[in-house]
Amino acid sequence: MCGIVGYVGPKKAVPILVQGLKRLEYRGYDSSGIATMNGEGPIFVHKRAGRIREMERSLPSPLPSTSVGIAHTRWATHGPPNEVNSHPHLSSDGSVAVVHNGIVENSSTLKKMLRSEGVVFRSDTDTEVIPNLVARFYEGDLEAAVKKALHLIRGTYGIVVMSTAEPGRLVVARNGSPIVLGVGDDEMYVASDAPALIAHTRQVVYLGDGEVATLDSDGFRTTDLEDREIDKQIDEIDWELEEIEKGEFPHFMLKEIHEQPRSILRGLRGRFEREYGDARLGGLNLTPREFFDIRRITLVACGTSYHAALAASYVLEDLARVPSNVEIASELRYRNPIVDAKTLYLAVSQSGETADTLAAMKEVQRKGGKVLGIVNVVGSTIARQSDGGIYIRSGPEVAVASTKAYTSQLLALVLLALKIGRMRDVSAGEGRELLEALEALPEQLRSVLDEGEQAMTKLAGELAHAPFVLFLGRGINYPTAMEGALKLKEVSYIQCEGLAAAEMKHGPIALISDGTPVIFLCPMDQLHEKTLSNMEEVKARKGRVIAVGNPGDERVQALADVFIEVPRTHPLLSPFLMVAPLQQLAYHTALQLGRDVDKPRNLAKSVTVE
Ligand code: M6R
Repeated sequence: MCGIVGYVGPKKAVPILVQGLKRLEYRGYDSSGIATMNGEGPIFVHKRAGRIREMERSLPSPLPSTSVGIAHTRWATHGPPNEVNSHPHLSSDGSVAVVHNGIVENSSTLKKMLRSEGVVFRSDTDTEVIPNLVARFYEGDLEAAVKKALHLIRGTYGIVVMSTAEPGRLVVARNGSPIVLGVGDDEMYVASDAPALIAHTRQVVYLGDGEVATLDSDGFRTTDLEDREIDKQIDEIDWELEEIEKGEFPHFMLKEIHEQPRSILRGLRGRFEREYGDARLGGLNLTPREFFDIRRITLVACGTSYHAALAASYVLEDLARVPSNVEIASELRYRNPIVDAKTLYLAVSQSGETADTLAAMKEVQRKGGKVLGIVNVVGSTIARQSDGGIYIRSGPEVAVASTKAYTSQLLALVLLALKIGRMRDVSAGEGRELLEALEALPEQLRSVLDEGEQAMTKLAGELAHAPFVLFLGRGINYPTAMEGALKLKEVSYIQCEGLAAAEMKHGPIALISDGTPVIFLCPMDQLHEKTLSNMEEVKARKGRVIAVGNPGDERVQALADVFIEVPRTHPLLSPFLMVAPLQQLAYHTALQLGRDVDKPRNLAKSVTVE
């Protein structure tokens, strides 16, 4: 959602800020702005509603030659997305500028108090109270004034503060909204996400909740709100700049779909105990005894991550023989969940910032439950809040529609299932068989994707004009049907539904008429025969059967109007191959409809509000 960038150092701040904001475009936003200054000010503020390029185009020429600045992309919560409401916000005396991610819950009380002291508010935002509080408390020490202001604020924040009283200094604080510092040579950067920094430095510091950092060109110091010094470790970003650039691809979504052979390989690297047919996973923070004592696994997630978790629950039950259930995070968090010591909780999140997933995991932890994070973004809030976990290693995912993270999440969870299974009923031989099938996946995926491009472009031409598309699958491919439907609906805006195939006859069959596209996931597994019956039912109602199946499956080929072939694999791994053509189909359909593929309407990459 909202994005933050800040810079202090010898270079010109404006181009760094604008470039940083562009790297955060994928998060979703509806306005943007920058504030910079030289010497003792005044603070130059420039904001626009709409795309960053509009804001950039309207910048004065020549650009102000400033070496400190803050910038923001806003996704409206309090007040419409217009120039006045966009950040940075100034104190009413113009001395303090702030960018803020999060929500000040007690802003109306604070506004009332500040108004009674003569402060005039210009915007509808909650944020505007922050610069005014800082200005009110300033007595010669910006960091101290920020801390005093934060003591009054209830809610969540990632903020960067700049003041004319202390030029060449930024004060940064975090509570619930991510903040990462970038350490350069005689310069410092700050952002809400690492992609905004990587062009300048790989040395980063992830700020924790309740931490405050003061940055100037000589470096940074970190303290808590009570002014106690905190020693922070400097981490190294372990991915490359090219990973957040489109390269030869027209869209990030297509690039990320085709990156899957590579991301799967990365997720597997170093995670095999070949001899023992086992998975090697560091970072779980579970003793062998705790592993042994697991009696239930509850997975918590939203959206695509929920689908990956649902598919994984089949694998966990099959391999680990542990009852597994999946909870939508937004439901779990308000349900007063019954938490017990022998349940292992898994929070699954690509971004590691999803508000509902974070809140659900905190609720479980508050009741004494142990929560592992299955997360992509290193140093993200969920990763830090977890009691242990697995990084899925899919590399940065920029397109709003999640693709490579889905298969990487599933991979990490399959490895976890194998590890638990090997402590129980899975033999070394069975483990090795699974490992071999996992090793073959990258090549198989590559061939599916290569062949799928043309076929899915053609099929997309047909689906683009469908008012409704139904996706059906059984067993482990029921979640694949849900994911296929979510992918197509979110990027093409076509109404889609993903169901357990047998559920169709309990109601949704009423939607099928002449030519209704129904996409079946039908690998040659133990449910093959059952899915074939559902295909017959659709055929009988003149629905158009599009089937994803395995080579040599003559019965499905004979029934289907369109047959999409994917290679056979271990029965528990078929979702990896079945989902790939569905991702391509979603992409090409959206493209043919002229949709904004990487930034579909109304969506944000990470949903950091309720
Ligand atoms: O970052 P997370 O995995 O926690 O995000 C969860 C969902 O918001 C996300 O998967 C969403 O459904 C995507 N738009 C799906 O493509």
